[in-house]
Amino acid sequence: MTTAWPYPHIVAHRGGGSLAPENTLAAIDVGARHGHKMIEFDAKLAQDGQIFLLHDDTLDRTSNGWGVAGELPWDKLVQLDAGNWYSPAYKGERLPLLSDVAERCRQHGLMANIEIKPTTGSDDETGRVVALAARLLWQGQTDPLLSSFSVEALAAAQRTVPELPRGLLLDEWDDSWRELTERLGCVSLHINHKALSAERVAALKGAGLRILVYTVNRPERARLLLDWGVDSICTDRIDLIGPDF
Ligand code: G3P
Ligand code: CA
Repeated sequence: MTTAWPYPHIVAHRGGGSLAPENTLAAIDVGARHGHKMIEFDAKLAQDGQIFLLHDDTLDRTSNGWGVAGELPWDKLVQLDAGNWYSPAYKGERLPLLSDVAERCRQHGLMANIEIKPTTGSDDETGRVVALAARLLWQGQTDPLLSSFSVEALAAAQRTVPELPRGLLLDEWDDSWRELTERLGCVSLHINHKALSAERVAALKGAGLRILVYTVNRPERARLLLDWGVDSICTDRIDLIGPDF
């Protein structure tokens, strides 16, 4: 049986793809301005348990801070600039809290794919805390889709908030996909599009899984993947691969 899938074909990667500083409220605004209906973003824990958005373990690439982000409390993280690295036009942009992101999604009518991105060693706690917060913060909106490369984080989310949909992330093909997705009660597999073929898509669909692929930035590749039966495409080129693609 195929799982119900309320999510659109196109998902804006890290909020606004490559058109804005990733994982910021400004990026979410850019995604919405391009008409997108769903965004993906990366959530992790500060030292004091606050949930905020950041892709990397460290602050160095996408802020004016440095070092491991999860080792700092929120009152230090909130002071950092998360926009100037991308462009001076975004100077003053902050790392957002998950609660602010939920509110911005509500304002724009955006669905969410929350990637649980634990700092090394905090997989269980991050899965548990993010799932609990997601259930509370997204009340009255379409259920956010939780995903993670971390089996431990997904297992914690499953234990804590079993009703929220989960997707397992894989960067390469792994023959244990069936066992893992069954064990974790996943509705979807989120996979690097380079690992897919028409045959693999058919095998995943045959098992009742939905498929979300990342990160697809060429329209002709996106078209082929949709023709194979992929359900959703996560893209940085939110301008070329628009919401009505
Ligand atoms: O969730 C899809 C994609 O975002 C996973 O890879 O490294 O961009 O977080 P990454
Ligand atoms: Ca991500």
